[in-house]
Amino acid sequence: MARLAPSLLSADFADLKEEIRKIEIGGADYLHLDVMDGIFVPNITFGLPVIKALRKVSNLTFDVHLMIDRPERYIKDFADAGADILTVHAEATTHLHRTIQAIKSMGIKAGVALNPSTPLNVLDYVLKDLDLVLIMTINPGFGGQSFIKAMEDKIRTIHKKIDDNNLDIILEIDGGVNLDNAKHLKELGVDLLVAGSAVFGAEDIVARTKEFKEILE
Ligand code: DX5
Ligand code: ZN
Repeated sequence: MARLAPSLLSADFADLKEEIRKIEIGGADYLHLDVMDGIFVPNITFGLPVIKALRKVSNLTFDVHLMIDRPERYIKDFADAGADILTVHAEATTHLHRTIQAIKSMGIKAGVALNPSTPLNVLDYVLKDLDLVLIMTINPGFGGQSFIKAMEDKIRTIHKKIDDNNLDIILEIDGGVNLDNAKHLKELGVDLLVAGSAVFGAEDIVARTKEFKEILE
């Protein structure tokens, strides 16, 4: 079974509480929260105060995806704000090993995300420390882009590595996930699928969440 992490990026920002309620009714377990700083990626979204406020209205697992430069500056703040999983980009932090340890020292799950062009071998010496690997299947910054087909090989390779080494790591992908490719992606070994526009862009968000859940079961 794979799981769904609807990305709030495509939700109605004027009505976040209600949008979250809809995916909860639909059966989502995770909420993917995209934090962007306008430096690491060419877009700015939301940050600590929003996550803190949403923490009070939802018990979903908060899967926080930091697309910010030098994320090590804010680890304690995001842990305090309510992140259950904190994922940093390997490209954004010089001392990746130290950053991962800092996240783990907060008692939450540590993830590392890789941009499409970043090779998997940057994970070689930290993989055993990780709770989650996030393979970006689009270039980060915006929702609604198309899945990059070349990432399928990357997903297969990292899945095999996790399996061969018997590691307890969640394999997550982010970008261009929709009802048509979800089943295939699950079959490649993905554990957690992020979907933004395909969930929150739907006419009926509750029904769409349920459709995804059925496909991923
Ligand atoms: C983009 C974000 C994604 C985004 C995905 O940088 O990391 O989480 O919401 O959007 P979709 O599912 O529309 O491709
Ligand atoms: Zn994301």
